[in-house]
Amino acid sequence: MRYVSLKEATAGMVLANELYDSYGRTLIGANHKLTDSYIEKLQKYGFWGVYISDELSEGIEVESVISPQLKARGMESVRACNIDECKKVARQIVEEILDSGKVSLDLADLRSYDDYTYAHSVNVGVICGVIGMGMCMSEQDMIHLVTAALLHDLGKLFIPSEILNKPERLTPEEYAVMKTHAEKSYDLIRERWDISAKVKTAVLFHHENVDGSGYPNGIDGSSQTLFTKILHVADVYDALVSKRPYKNPYSPYEASEYLMGVCGSMFDGQVVDALLRFVPLYPKGTTVRLSNGRTGIIYENAGIHNLRPILRMMDGTMMDMTDSGCLNLSLAPADDFYEEIETAEKSRHEMLELI
Ligand SMILES: [Fe+2]
Repeated sequence: MRYVSLKEATAGMVLANELYDSYGRTLIGANHKLTDSYIEKLQKYGFWGVYISDELSEGIEVESVISPQLKARGMESVRACNIDECKKVARQIVEEILDSGKVSLDLADLRSYDDYTYAHSVNVGVICGVIGMGMCMSEQDMIHLVTAALLHDLGKLFIPSEILNKPERLTPEEYAVMKTHAEKSYDLIRERWDISAKVKTAVLFHHENVDGSGYPNGIDGSSQTLFTKILHVADVYDALVSKRPYKNPYSPYEASEYLMGVCGSMFDGQVVDALLRFVPLYPKGTTVRLSNGRTGIIYENAGIHNLRPILRMMDGTMMDMTDSGCLNLSLAPADDFYEEIETAEKSRHEMLELI
């Protein structure tokens, strides 16, 4: 399978896996052929791209870190503000991550922007879980961390949707309202004896920057827990790679570049480093361009930061970038993403206010 943006998708392409809405209901089944009307509807739903199966991508398998059923259950728990259920889902997310044994988020995710808050919380949970496993955390700590991720934005359920989904820049007054969501999330759990203090502080401080410029309290890195720092990085990373009403998704490459750029001011360097070790810059099945102008599809990732993957070129031949003959070549996202990055770049500062 390979990932194509809906702009590139054409009628007749075969879907590689089932597509779901935010309630876990099937929109289109696996192996269905796309039609112009499906493509239009998926765009309206807010999908950015889909995985398709074709001859070129044969043998490229991309698996979700957690099952679609668990993802839907997680979204439902967040939507219903059901804290007990979120705790159970967090435990199950950790079980599925540990069972899979994969310390890699090799997936260009699919989601729609109208369910962003719910899908985002579950995605952040998965990213936190993968980082936690990669950092050799205990299972109990992983559960706490994923629980904090599922609960961190519950306070947004109390922010008026005109502010939450406003496509333009927020006024200072609206931004002040938006910023209250971290405390609102915390207020929902502060009295609960069955939720660890580690979870509570991570939820309250998930918008604090290491240089003290964040909110609500403006505490700096020396007063932040590891959980807080991981949740902050995972939260922003997922927001960057998501489609939002006011921006197109960044590619994982561009999002990673962004995280590195604000290490030391927004984020803790060690945590960013941990994320970059487990999140490939070029996920399996995505199209990349080589410095010699040729394009190919990521067949398999390997090595440090996954910068030297195995590719299947558009003529069907394979290229292992660790081979000595390829060492002078470098990778970049395919042209398709470049256009979008330029657009996203313009609104970067506005966007950060909305995460
Ligand atoms: Fe938040």
